[in-house]
Amino acid sequence: MKITLSVIKADIGSIGGHLTPSRHLVETVKSHLDSQGRGIVIDHYVSHTGDDVAILMTHTAGTGDEDVHKLAWGAFLAGTRVAKEQGLYGAGQDLLKEAFSGNVRGMGPAVAEMEFEERPNEPFLFFAADKTDPGAYNLPLYLAFADPMTTPGLLLSPELAKGFRFVIMDVNYTEGDRIIELNAPEDLYLIATLLRDPERYVVESVWSRATDEIAAVASTTRLHNIAGKYVGKDDPVMLVRAQKHFPATGEILAPYATGHFVAGGMRGSHNMPLMPVPLNSSISYFDGPPVVSCAAFCVHEGKLTEAVDTFAHPFWDTVRDDVAKKAMEMRRQGFFGAAMLPMTELEYTGIMQTLEALDERFTVRD
Ligand code: F6R
Ligand code: MG
Ligand code: MG
Repeated sequence: MKITLSVIKADIGSIGGHLTPSRHLVETVKSHLDSQGRGIVIDHYVSHTGDDVAILMTHTAGTGDEDVHKLAWGAFLAGTRVAKEQGLYGAGQDLLKEAFSGNVRGMGPAVAEMEFEERPNEPFLFFAADKTDPGAYNLPLYLAFADPMTTPGLLLSPELAKGFRFVIMDVNYTEGDRIIELNAPEDLYLIATLLRDPERYVVESVWSRATDEIAAVASTTRLHNIAGKYVGKDDPVMLVRAQKHFPATGEILAPYATGHFVAGGMRGSHNMPLMPVPLNSSISYFDGPPVVSCAAFCVHEGKLTEAVDTFAHPFWDTVRDDVAKKAMEMRRQGFFGAAMLPMTELEYTGIMQTLEALDERFTVRD
C-alpha cells in the first residue's frame, strides 16, 4: 500500500512568551482534526515542541495534497482563535497569509512530507525542533547517512553500503527551489562543503541508492523569504525512515548526543547547542536552548502505533547536562563573536540601524 506521511507545523501562540502552547490550544487543534479529518486522513498525531504545534498525518493522497493541507490550515486557524481568546503571546504568528490557496507551502507553516510503498513493518521517526532553523538537521543527517563512524550499518549492511543520495537546497534562492543532488560516499567532500553552511544549504531529502526509496525529508521553509523580514525562526520538522535498508533507529539518534551549536535561542539571533528533549517539552534558559524532540512510530496501512518518546530515555539525561553546560559556557561571552549570529541572520534590526547611524560618524585619517 502506498501511503503518505505529512507533517505540518506552526507557532500559533504560546504561554509566558515563546515557551509552550496552552493545553486548550492543542486540544482544539486535535478536535478539529478528529471532526474534520474523516475521509481525508487515515490517522493523525498532534504534539508540540517548545512553542510549535506539529500535526503528523497519514493518508493516501500523495504529497502537497490540497485537502490535507487545508485540514492542517483549518486546525491552525481554530487553534489561533483559542490563542487570541486566551491572550497567548504571538497568536497566529506563523500564519503569514490571509486566505488558503491550495497548499500551505509559502504560507508560513513548515512542511515535511514523504510518499512510499509501506513495508510490512514500517518504523519511522518524527523530529521537531524549536528555536532553530532547518540547517540544524544537516549534521545529524550527514552523520547518520554518510559517516561509518556513526553508522556502522554503512559497512555491515550490503544495502546501506551502496550509499545515499542527498538532495540539498539553497534556501537563500527565492525564485524557486534551487537544488543539487550529491551521492555519498563519492561526493562526501562536496556534501560536507555545502552542509557546513546550514543557513544557506539545507538537506531537503535523502534517498537510498540501493532501492531508490525515500529515507528522510526535512522542512526547508525560510520565513523571512516569505515575509520579506524576519518573523521568527523557521523551527524545522523532519521524517526519517529507519531499519533494514535505512540506518537503524539508534544510528539516526546517535548524532544528537553531540549537542552541536545551531542558529537559534534568544531573539533568534544566537548560536546555542541543540538539546534533545522529551516530547511536548517547553522552552526556558535564554529563550532556549534550541531543542529537538523525536517520536518513533510504526505505521501499518496508514494506522500509527502510539509514539515512543526516544529522548525521554535516561541516557539523554547526561547529554542534557552536557548541553546545558555548553549553553552556559557560550553565554559567558554574551554578545561577542561566535555567540551571536552573523548580521544577515539576526532576527532584529537594531544592530543594522545602529551601524547605519554610526557610518556617517566614521572619518578616514589623512
Ligand atoms: C522567539 C524567540 C524569543 C524572542 C524574545 C523577544 O522564538 O526566540 O527569544 O525573540 O523573547 O520577543 P519579543 O521581541 O516578541 O518580545
Ligand atoms: Mg513563538
Ligand atoms: Mg518556535
